[in-house]
Amino acid sequence: MKRTPAKSPPVRTAAKKSKEDDHVAVVDEAETNGEAHAADAPAPRASTKRRATAETMAAGQRDISVSEFFAKNRHLLGFDNPRKALLTTVKEAVDNSLDACEEAGILPEVWVHIETTGENRYKVGIQDNGPGIVKAQIPNIFGKLLYGSKFHRLRMSRGQQGIGISAAGMYGVLTTGKPVKIVSRIGAKKPAHYFELQIDTKRNKPEILNGKGDGVDIDAGEAGAKFIEKHGVEWIDVAHGTRVTIELEAKYQRGRGSVDEYLEQTAIANPHVTLHYQDPDGKVYDYPRAAEQLPPEPKEILPHP
Ligand SMILES: Nc1ncnc2c1ncn2[C@@H]1O[C@H](COP(=O)(O)OP(=O)(O)OP(=O)(O)O)[C@@H](O)[C@H]1O
Ligand SMILES: [Mg+2]
Repeated sequence: MKRTPAKSPPVRTAAKKSKEDDHVAVVDEAETNGEAHAADAPAPRASTKRRATAETMAAGQRDISVSEFFAKNRHLLGFDNPRKALLTTVKEAVDNSLDACEEAGILPEVWVHIETTGENRYKVGIQDNGPGIVKAQIPNIFGKLLYGSKFHRLRMSRGQQGIGISAAGMYGVLTTGKPVKIVSRIGAKKPAHYFELQIDTKRNKPEILNGKGDGVDIDAGEAGAKFIEKHGVEWIDVAHGTRVTIELEAKYQRGRGSVDEYLEQTAIANPHVTLHYQDPDGKVYDYPRAAEQLPPEPKEILPHP
C-alpha cells in the first residue's frame, strides 16, 4: 500500500521553533536589564506543583501498539476522510486479490459489491477466484497489522507492508463496530471457512468472534447458501478464492478519484482481469478480460549494494 506522508511534523516544528524564540527573547530581555542570574543560582521553579521525575516518567514509558498508533493516525494509511476511506478499502482488497491470483498463476476474476447500510455507512464485499487462504492464517491476515507474505521478498507486487487489508478492517470496526467477515476456500474438495474478526488494537491481535474462537466451516449446497445469507455476506461459489466483507463509515461519490473510476482504470490497466462491480445504487458494471494470458511474473532481484 502507498502511504500518505504525515502532515503533522511541520506544524510541530513550527510550534517548537516559536517556543525557542520566546526563550531567546526572555534571556535577551533579562540581560539588557542587567538581571542575569548568577551561574550557580538554583533554577527557578514555575510553581509548587509536583513535577515529573525520571522515575515517574519511567512508569509511563512503554511500547506503543502498532495498531493503536495507526488507529490514531489513520491518515497515514489512506483513511483521511470518508470518501478516501471507501476508495482505500476497495483498493486494498482488489490489490490483494490481483496479487494472490497472479502469484498462483490464476487468471483473476474479481467481484466488488458496495451496498448502502445507513447514512454514511456502506458494506463492501470483495471476492476473488484466487488460491484462497488456509484457515489458520485468516485471523492474522485480516486482524493483525504488519502480517503478510510480501514484505521480506525482493520482487514487485502491489502490496508489500502487510498492513493494507487489516487496516481497512480496523477502520471498519472502529467506525461501525461491525466485524470483518471473511469467506475463503482453498480447493474444490475442501469446505469454505467463515470467520468474523475484529482487531484488538491494544495488542495488535485478532479476536475471532465466531465458532468458539475458531471460525466455522460452511456446508456445501443449500444449507451453506442459507448460512451465508443469514450472516449478511455473499459468496460466489468458486472452487477456490477469498471474499472479505467490511462495513465502514464512508462517503460514496462518483467522478474523479471515485471507486467507479478506480475500478474502470484497474480493468483497463489489467486486461487479463475480469471485473464485476455493483455500485450502491445497484448498477452493475462488467469488465470482461481482453487478454487470456497473465503478465510475465516479476523476478526477484538483489538490492543495490
Ligand atoms: N485475497 C487474498 N488471497 C490470498 N492471500 C491474501 C489475500 N489477501 C491477503 N492475502 C495475504 O495476506 C497478506 C496480508 O495482506 P495485506 O493487504 O495486509 O498486506 P500486503 O498485501 O502484504 O501489503 P500492503 O500492506 O502493502 O497491502 C498478503 O501478503 C497475502 O499473503
Ligand atoms: Mg495488500
